[in-house]
Amino acid sequence: MSSFWPTLDHWSVQIPLDTPHPRLAQLAETGYVVLRDADFEVPPAQYEALEYMDWKSGGDTNFAPIASADGELDCRGFWDKGKTDKDALWTSNAARVPAVQEYVDKVGANFGRVRIIKLEPQSRDEAIRSIHRDDNNRFNPEHEGWVVRSWLELTDNPDSYMLLMDNGPDGLPDASTEVRVPLHRGARFVVDTQRLWHVVVHPGTAPRYALITSFESGPALSSWIDAERVPVAV
Ligand SMILES: [Fe+2]
Repeated sequence: MSSFWPTLDHWSVQIPLDTPHPRLAQLAETGYVVLRDADFEVPPAQYEALEYMDWKSGGDTNFAPIASADGELDCRGFWDKGKTDKDALWTSNAARVPAVQEYVDKVGANFGRVRIIKLEPQSRDEAIRSIHRDDNNRFNPEHEGWVVRSWLELTDNPDSYMLLMDNGPDGLPDASTEVRVPLHRGARFVVDTQRLWHVVVHPGTAPRYALITSFESGPALSSWIDAERVPVAV
């Protein structure tokens, strides 16, 4: 058993949960929504050849910025440049993964950071040490849409999963709400990562690659989710 569990002095606890920002109805209940698997693949030769930066988030990770606050190959938060995580500019990596650029553009929503994450294997015990909530809405005016994140899995890791937990009354992750989103190739999902605690459990032997994009909540993102989500059984 893992001995680690976040406590009230974890930095994530200070990140706001309740704000007036407009949010998506589709995420209201659980904080996440699973989409249909992607109907295209990004060739490994393309995403493996990108320029990756040493940036640790959620484990032993490297990131290739596809869009950033100012178009530079920079993994820092947009807030370092006084900017909310939207209105991003494509970096020099973007043209090297045209399917990714086209995919993000076609959503039609305002997007922030677009990055490909390379995550080295980590067991559940190791992963739990990195469980956290994101500070996606720093500097976001309260009348503008709540920033959430979407994933597209580029490598095929059916035994790996995104571990999600909602908050308990104490503001710490509530283990009884655990969800495991499977990470096979083409898996796609949208998560309110400022609300849900999250980390990826990846027991494989090779790195896992995925596309992560910040999107502003609003009519465009809502319509896209409705068109792309796994139909709910009735
Ligand atoms: Fe995160």
